[in-house]
Amino acid sequence: MTALSKESVESLESPLARSVVVHETLGSTQERARELASEGAPHGTLVVSKVQTGGRGRLGRRWGSPAGGLWMSLVLRPGISTQVAARTTQAAAVGVTKALRSFGVEVRIKWPNDLLVQGRKVCGILAESSVESVPVAAKKVGPGERRLVDFIILGVGLNANLDPRDLGVPGSEVATLRSELGRDLDLLELLESLLHYLDVELGRIEDFEAILEDWRTLNCTLGERVRVTRFGEVLEGVALDLGPDGELRLQTRDGIVELFEGEVEQLRRETA
Ligand code: BTN
Repeated sequence: MTALSKESVESLESPLARSVVVHETLGSTQERARELASEGAPHGTLVVSKVQTGGRGRLGRRWGSPAGGLWMSLVLRPGISTQVAARTTQAAAVGVTKALRSFGVEVRIKWPNDLLVQGRKVCGILAESSVESVPVAAKKVGPGERRLVDFIILGVGLNANLDPRDLGVPGSEVATLRSELGRDLDLLELLESLLHYLDVELGRIEDFEAILEDWRTLNCTLGERVRVTRFGEVLEGVALDLGPDGELRLQTRDGIVELFEGEVEQLRRETA
């Protein structure tokens, strides 16, 4: 096992780890990466912490982050529009899934970006953008402003070398790489693989249809009856497909609804 340190991570020479910060304990790598990005940290700044005391998940939820997991956030400065930036979540889900599969873990993606092993969550992904409005010359693009993404903070929380009970949530809901593989993985090797596959997927983000094709192959949501909670509203139906921007097309009794966010719960077929 190689210890995760600034030196060992930098030795990977990944374009996504040009500037590396490794902490023993931190509130949240997501918050630290955001602070660094606000101070001008470049694309490829990577913040890792062995423990997080205030790890954050989607929808403001707490994210348990004891020792043994891989808790990391990346500063991305893609220089792209908000529309393309919104694709980061799914590109990252595909990249992390491919990385975990390369270690023999049969991960599937639950829309939009939870990674599950046999229905239990093993990894969460959180992509948060900071947008700046750039005035554009009238004769070039038309009057007004174009919204550009200043930076994206891409957080990955991977339950790696720990037991499900260490995470403080009901064991039937979570998995860890240890519980699936029956052994621990070298976190540096794991990180190397994650950075490699993330770089590949983010590098082809302009070809989003190709990423969505892989997402379709790797997912466990499409074709299922699901209940989706979105802004307090609950919808039920069959998850039909993804639209061109990664939105979920849900066949409800009242017609097809397109969802850009929400929490999906898979329904048992017999109760649907
Ligand atoms: C989810 O709700 O599924 C997303 C979880 C994201 C957790 C990661 S752990 C590293 C980074 N730091 C945080 O505080 N959150 C993200």
